[in-house]
Amino acid sequence: MSDHEPAPLLLDQRRREMLDAMGIQYWVRRDLPADQHHEVIPEHEPWQVSQESMLEQPMPQLPTDWESLQSAVSNCRKCSLSQGRQNTVFGAGDQNARVMVVGEAPGEEEDRQGLPFVGRAGLLLNQMLLAAGLSRESVYIANILNCRPPGNRNPDVEEMKACHDYLQQQIDLVQPEVILAAGGVAAKNLLQSDEAVGRLRGRMHHYGESKIPLLVTYHPSYLLRKPSEKAKSWQDLQLLMKQLQ
Ligand code: URA
Repeated sequence: MSDHEPAPLLLDQRRREMLDAMGIQYWVRRDLPADQHHEVIPEHEPWQVSQESMLEQPMPQLPTDWESLQSAVSNCRKCSLSQGRQNTVFGAGDQNARVMVVGEAPGEEEDRQGLPFVGRAGLLLNQMLLAAGLSRESVYIANILNCRPPGNRNPDVEEMKACHDYLQQQIDLVQPEVILAAGGVAAKNLLQSDEAVGRLRGRMHHYGESKIPLLVTYHPSYLLRKPSEKAKSWQDLQLLMKQLQ
């Protein structure tokens, strides 16, 4: 094994169950004594550090306390999505989390409940986090948009601009050690990049002035449609675990 290859991970029963739940294949090394069986997960791509993010960050003129910030989002009328929403979907989770997950935008179920990632994609996200040894409650989950685009269409540029400061303020408040951008909309928006998720994932980026380590992975909705890509997402989660060590 070369210096760049990660050591095979010894996974506990819980994580094996989670990998099974995610539908990820792993291999067990039977050449080792039974109590030292290693599940060998597909290796990740080389660890690379990107150029500094080119994102311009205007200083947000927003409240710096959680309650007022959430209230500002609830009352937001900056774009037309406010007209069709049932609820705004503010971030949720541990406000002191080490990991912040950033998704795209609320879907139907999120709009109904006013909470991020509570539909089918959310269930898979929970399983992905658990596979990485993280409970949903231990991370902070937010979206690029706080309101549901009609018919779950992609967010447009003006909508993302309108919501940017709300997300920035949540990032500033949480000060996560790592951001996990789930899907192309989050990744491209945060990194100000036109590259596809498949090219952005698998390596470390850095976000904003404080250069917060940022990893990209596939969006759980995409993984539900294309389960064969789950192994790559698992590689990304391994990078996340490595970063947290
Ligand atoms: N997809 C997202 O990107 N965010 C959610 O909150 C739900 C689904």
